[in-house]
Order: sequence, then C-alpha cells, then structure tokens
Amino acid sequence: MGFKMRYLELKRKVRDVRMLAIQGIAEAGSGHPGASFSSAEIMGALYFHKMKHDPLHPDWEDRDYFINSKAHSAPGFYAILAIAGYIDSDEVKTLRKMGSRLQGHPVKFSKYQQNHSFPGIEYSGGSEGIGLSVSIGIALAKKYDGKGNRIFTLIGDGESNEGQVWEAAMSAPKFRLDNLVAILDRNKIQQDGFTEEIMPLDPVRDKWMAFNWNVMEVDGHKIEQLIDALNRVERVEDKPSIIIANTIKGNGIKHMANNPQWHGKAPPRKHTPILLEELQSEVMIAPSIIAGERENYEEKVRKAERGGADLIHLDVMDGHFVPNTTFFSDTIKNLRRNTSLPFDAHLMIEEPLSHVQDYIDARCDIITVHAEVCKENEFLKINEKLLKAGISPGIAINPETPIPSWIYDHLDTIDVIIIMSVNPGFAGQKFIPDTLNKMIDTSRALRQHNYRGYIEADGGIDATNLQQVFDAGARIIVAGNAVYGSADINLNMIQLRHKANVSLERKLLELATVKGIRNDWMKTRKHILIPLANELRIEDELHAIK
Ligand code: DX5
Ligand code: ZN
Repeated sequence: MGFKMRYLELKRKVRDVRMLAIQGIAEAGSGHPGASFSSAEIMGALYFHKMKHDPLHPDWEDRDYFINSKAHSAPGFYAILAIAGYIDSDEVKTLRKMGSRLQGHPVKFSKYQQNHSFPGIEYSGGSEGIGLSVSIGIALAKKYDGKGNRIFTLIGDGESNEGQVWEAAMSAPKFRLDNLVAILDRNKIQQDGFTEEIMPLDPVRDKWMAFNWNVMEVDGHKIEQLIDALNRVERVEDKPSIIIANTIKGNGIKHMANNPQWHGKAPPRKHTPILLEELQSEVMIAPSIIAGERENYEEKVRKAERGGADLIHLDVMDGHFVPNTTFFSDTIKNLRRNTSLPFDAHLMIEEPLSHVQDYIDARCDIITVHAEVCKENEFLKINEKLLKAGISPGIAINPETPIPSWIYDHLDTIDVIIIMSVNPGFAGQKFIPDTLNKMIDTSRALRQHNYRGYIEADGGIDATNLQQVFDAGARIIVAGNAVYGSADINLNMIQLRHKANVSLERKLLELATVKGIRNDWMKTRKHILIPLANELRIEDELHAIK
C-alpha cells in the first residue's frame, strides 16, 4: 500500500501513542481515553504517513493543516504530536497539570498562548462542532491564494449533533473544496451513551452524500484502509471528501472498548503497568495461504480478510532453499489488486539480494529473508532497499540456526524477527517444542537490547499451542493449517483469536497479582473475564468479587 513509514513501524508508533496517552491520563487522574484510542490510527495515518508537516518548522508555509475538532481526544493528539517530534514524550505526563502546556482541550498556539499550548497546534477545540467551519475558512483562503495545502479535519459522531456541523457540510461543496478532507471518528458513543440512542446519526453515509460530499467508509483501526482512503480522496476534484472511519471507543484496552463509562474517566494510576502490558500485547494473526487446498489463493485471501486476519502470510519457496516450490512475485502482484491487507512475504529462497526488488515491486509490506542464506553485508544491502521503499524488513531463523550476533547491531531497522517453529518447506507440519526455549531466550535478549519490533512465530501453530508462543513473546502468529486445514475458516480464526485473548488475560492477571492488585484489577475487568473464567480457572474468585 506504499507506506512512507514502514507498516510495522506505523503499527508500533500508534501503539506508543496509546501507551503515552494512557500514562498522561492516569497521571492527571482525568482525561478522555475513549476518544484518544478510537482516533489513534486516524491521527497516526495523517501525522506518520499522509500529511506534509515538519515538527522543526511548525509554521512551514506549505504544510497541511490538521484541525482536531473532536478536541476531547486531546491526550491522544498530544501523544501523536510527541511521537511525531513536536514535544518531548515526557511532557505528555504533565497533561492537565497546573502550568502545563497540555490542557484538557488543545489551545491554538500563538505568542499569547505560550504557557497553554505549543507550536503545531493549529486550532483551539473548546466546545465542539466548530472545527469543520474553521477548516472551510482555511481551505477557502488557500484556494484563493492558489496554494496546495490540504486541510484534514477530525470530527466526532457525538459532535455531529451540533447544527453547525451541517451548516459547514452544506457550504464546503458549494465552494468545491477538494483540498478539504473530513474524517469522522464513528465510534457510536458520546459523552453519556450510545449515539443512536441519544441522537441517531445513521444513515450517516447517505447524509454526507446528500450534502454532495465524496464519501468513503473504512475500518478506522485498519491503518492500511485509512491510508488507502486518504490516497484515493486526494485524487477527487471539485468536491470535499469525508472518510467515515468505523471505530471502537477505547479500542486497545478491552474493558474500555465500546464502553461509554470510559468516555471521560481515568484509570487508577496503579493499573498503568498492566494497561501498558496490554497495549504491547496486541496479537496479529497472519494466515499462511499455502496451507490447505493449494489453488485459489484469491479466495483464501478473501476468506482470511472476512475472518479478521491482520496480515496475509506469503510463503515464497524456490525449491532450492527448501524442498518445495510455491509461488513468486507475479502471483503476489495479482493478489495485491484484491485487498489492502498488509502482505507479510516470507522469502524462503536462495540469493535473496538478487530477487528482493521483484517483491518490492509486487508491493509487499513486510519482506523477510532467511539468516541461513544472508551474511551481514548482504542483509544490509537488502535492508537498505526495503527501508528506501518504505517496506518493513524482517529476518527469519530456522530451528537449528542460532541467532546471528550481528542482528543486535541493526535492531532499529529490523521490524520483525521470525523464529521458525518447524523446518521450512511445507505447511501442516508438527510444531517443534524445542523452539519455544529459543523463542523465550531470543525475546529476553531482544528486550535487553530494547528491541521495539515484533517477534513472529511461524510453523505448526494452532489453538493448542498459541498460548505458549504468546508467552514466549511472539506477537505475530502465522497460522496455515490452523486456518485453512478445515472448511470453516471463520470459526478457525475465531478460535485462534479466542486463544490469544485467553493468553492475554492470563498474562495481565499474573502481572496484577505480582503488583498486588489482583482483586482490584479483576473488579475492573470483570465483564471481560466472565466469559473466560472457566478457562482461566477463576470462576469462584470472580464470583466473590462484588
Ligand atoms: C513453512 C512456512 C509456514 C507454514 C505455516 O515453511 O514458512 O509459514 O506455511 O503453516 P502451518 O501453520 O500449517 O505450519
Ligand atoms: Zn512462513
């Protein structure tokens, strides 16, 4: 999908945004986790990929403008600006404090507002409903001046109760403002409940179309869909565009997700380490399409996407490095046309340096080569090509291969490390238990080197052993036979996702116990734990918690 920032780097940055925002909110004892989390990918796609901006020159004349009309998402917004380089990340922990530049709602920066704002904040979002009108003013002025700046406006669905939003919606098409893109954070919750109960907004798509806007609709937590939509609306002429981003309020923390209670409530400070652990434990499931029935890769990709896959794992085998041949870049090029899902290409080929350009051209998002066929200097040449193309580089290691020491010198540009849990060559093989210790040791060593990338486990993983690879540190889980080995792919995906959830809850419970807040945590997490109580063997304990 042509990321300026590498896919896994984008994922990591958005993860860091949530982590920083929740620390700020917990530290302040107030703030809006719900909105900060529902709009994290939206703001991440803009600041880390789409927008022309420069933290060193916040007033750059040709910059694009971000108008955050959904101002209560301030903690998330400040975290985005920190990670984008406008302020130091530590300053986010001063959120809402007396004398802090980070107030509850952002204040437009000016020389009169040095104490309550900082360069990079374009708009004061106090009462909501006004940002789109201000955006129209900026867009019009840029049009009159013949300037190419683009204006991106984040609005909320609760905020859309405001009449002024619709006045603005009516006027933008009148002025043919194709330099204006609104993004609706459609999380279906507002301050005191669900939008459709308080002031029904649906059919929201039809409304904006009726107001003569170009309308797109995406999953607002799939960064690849957001980027795809932002690229498409850029080509629209004579009309403003709106991207309806279907999101989940509080997404990222399970007990806050889709829960109006967490609109404007802070978690207790003592929960922070557990919440940070949860945010770092998001599992990505990558179905391997060579498994199961051999033909019909398009159909397999479609089913995986419907089943909620995060990535598509593409096993390229050349019949030399491994005793099997699958497919090559031409097949991937064809598959690329049908989906925006990120492609995780696992190259089991000899001489990867001479072939990698084909996979770059096939628009893979992650490209992993094997350490067994790559010396350090060769890997660095491949890496350089991938970084230049905005593709996440990865290195894969077979069960018998020790981790090459030179990897530790290049961790900041290796986005994923695949620990093979089978000998490569075929799907449907049995998981090799010894690889677990290797995964545990490697995770520990990488943590000591402060590795920020992902560990991917590949081979023989299913619902019976997913917990173990999760505990060993894997956060990208390849699943071939477990997904395509039987007919009901949806059910197979649900089972894997379920096991990932159980693994997560077990880990968080252990951490809460170590921190001496088990009961308190279980109380907060009760509605998430109840359906899993049997598997977590906590039924009686949970029952006793009032
Ligand atoms: C094996 C491949 C794996 C395999 C996964 O060489 O790298 O990705 O296809 O399939 P399962 O999960 O069935 O082992
Ligand atoms: Zn693989």
